[in-house]
Amino acid sequence: MSTATAAAPKPKHARPKVPDQKMLIGGKWVESASGKAFETLDPSTGEVICRVAEGDKADVDAAVKAARAALETGPWGRMTGSARGRLLHKLADAIESHKDELAALESLDNGKPLGDSLAADLPLTLQCYRYYAGWADKIHGSTIPVDGPYFTYTRHEPVGVVGQIIPWNFPLLMQAWKWAPALACGNTVVLKPAEQTPLTALRVAQLAQEVGFPDGVINVVPGYGPTAGAALSGHMDVDKIAFTGETSTGKIVMKAAADSNLKRVSLELGGKSPNIVFADADLDAAVEGAYFGLFFNQGQCCVAGSRLFVQESVYDEFVHKVTAKAKGRRVGDPFEAGVEQGPQVSQEQADRIMGYIDAGKSEGAKLLTGGGRVGDRGYYVQPTVFADVKDEMRIAREEIFGPVMSILKFKDADEVIARGNRTVYGLAAAVWTRDVKKALRLANGLRAGTVWVNCFDVFDAAAPFGGFKMSGIGRELGQYALQLYTEVKTVTMAT
Ligand code: NAI
Ligand code: MG
Repeated sequence: MSTATAAAPKPKHARPKVPDQKMLIGGKWVESASGKAFETLDPSTGEVICRVAEGDKADVDAAVKAARAALETGPWGRMTGSARGRLLHKLADAIESHKDELAALESLDNGKPLGDSLAADLPLTLQCYRYYAGWADKIHGSTIPVDGPYFTYTRHEPVGVVGQIIPWNFPLLMQAWKWAPALACGNTVVLKPAEQTPLTALRVAQLAQEVGFPDGVINVVPGYGPTAGAALSGHMDVDKIAFTGETSTGKIVMKAAADSNLKRVSLELGGKSPNIVFADADLDAAVEGAYFGLFFNQGQCCVAGSRLFVQESVYDEFVHKVTAKAKGRRVGDPFEAGVEQGPQVSQEQADRIMGYIDAGKSEGAKLLTGGGRVGDRGYYVQPTVFADVKDEMRIAREEIFGPVMSILKFKDADEVIARGNRTVYGLAAAVWTRDVKKALRLANGLRAGTVWVNCFDVFDAAAPFGGFKMSGIGRELGQYALQLYTEVKTVTMAT
C-alpha cells in the first residue's frame, strides 16, 4: 500500500439510491387510494430519500379486507405449522443474503451508524425470525381431566387479523418482533411502519413475497399515526393491535381498541430505566455499560439507562471516567467507518432533546460535556452528560430518547431501590455489583420487566421483554409472545 493511499481518509460506504415506494396490499404493490405520498428523509442531511405512498383509512380498509381473506379463504389458513416455520426460515435466509443492503437502507432512513446496523439490528432480526420459525409447529393446547363424562382439550388458535404499529428507533427489529411470532402462530398482519422510517419494512415485505408468503398474509401500509395508525387501531375487523412507541400514544391506541371492537391490545411503551452502580462493582465495566446503555443508538432506546445512580463513595471517580468517554465519542456520518453516533432520527426529535437539555440546565443539573447541536446540517446532538441530577428534575423523570446522560448520587441499597422505583415506568433496570446477595435483592426489588446484572442491553429472541406499570402490557419475545398472538379455545365433548 502506498503512503498516499494510507494517508487518505477511509472511503465511505455508498448511500443506497432508493426509488419511490408503493404499499403492499393483498400481494399487490399499489399507490395510496388518495394518491398522496410523503417524503422520507435522510437524517444526516435532511434531504429527501424518496417518496412513499401515504396510507389512510381507505388503504387500511383494503389491507384488512385482504388480510381477512388470506386468513379465511386463502392457503394460509390451511397451512400446517411446519410449513409456516419453513416460510419463516426462508424469510430469514432472504434477509441474511440481503443483509448489507438492508443495513444500509436502515442506516440511511434512521441515521444509525452502518456498523451498528450490521452488528446489532441485522443479527437480532435474523435471530428473531429463526427463533419463531422453530416455534411454528410447537404451538398446541393440552388435554384437561375434568369431572364427569367429558373429554376436554384446548386449542391455541391464531387471534386472526393483527394490526401492528411500530416506531422508528429499530425499524427492522421491531418488524421482526411483531411479524415473527404473529406469523408463527398463523395470523395475518397489517403493519404500519413509522412515518420516519418506512423503507426497510417495505423491502422485507418484498422479500417475504419472493419467498412465498401467500398474498394478503402480510400487508404494509405506510402513513402517519393519527390517520393510518388510528384507522388500524380503531378498525372493527382487526382482532388484535400490537403497538410500540410513546406511552401517550399507547393510551390512544388502547382507547381506540376499546371504543371499536375491544380488540386485544399489547403495548411496549416508554421507560426511564434506573442503572445502578454500587461501589463494589467492577468500575470500569460499569462505566462501559453505563456509557453503552445510554448512548447506544443515539440514545433512542426505550430501555436507555437514563437514570444513572452511582453510590457516593465512587461517585466522583465514576463521573470523571464516564464523562471522558462521552467526550471521546465520535459523532458523524453514519456511513463513515468508525463513527459511533449518527444523527437523531428527525428535526422534531432533535428539538425535543434540546428542550430537555435546556430543562436540565435551568433546573440546576451540572452540565459536564455536550449540551449543543453538532454542525448545521442533519439532526446531530452532542453526547451530553449531566451530573448532580435530582429526582424531581424533568431530565430524571421524563423519557428523553437522546444522547443525554443524567447521573444521580445514592447512599445505600434501600434508598436506591425506593428511588429507582419512583417512576411511572417499569421497562428495564440494571445493577452493577460484585455482591451476589445485593444483586438478587435489587433484581427482586426493582419493578421492571427486565433487570440486567453487570450487563446492559442484552437482548435475545428467547428472553421475554416488556414493561411493568406504564411501560406497557404483555411480553414480547420468548414463548410469552405466543400468548399475544393466540386465542385459547376450550373444547368439551360428552363421552
Ligand atoms: P409515537 O408513539 O407517536 O410513534 C410510534 C408509532 O405510533 C408510529 O408508527 C406512529 O406513526 C404511530 N402513531 C402515532 N400516533 C398514533 C395514533 N394516534 N394512533 C395510532 N398510531 C399512532 O412516537 P414518536 O412521536 O415517534 O416519538 C415521540 C417519543 O416517543 C420519543 O421521543 C420517545 O420518547 C418515545 N418513543 C418510544 C419508543 C419505544 O420504543 N418505547 C419508540 C419511539 C418513540
Ligand atoms: Mg408522535
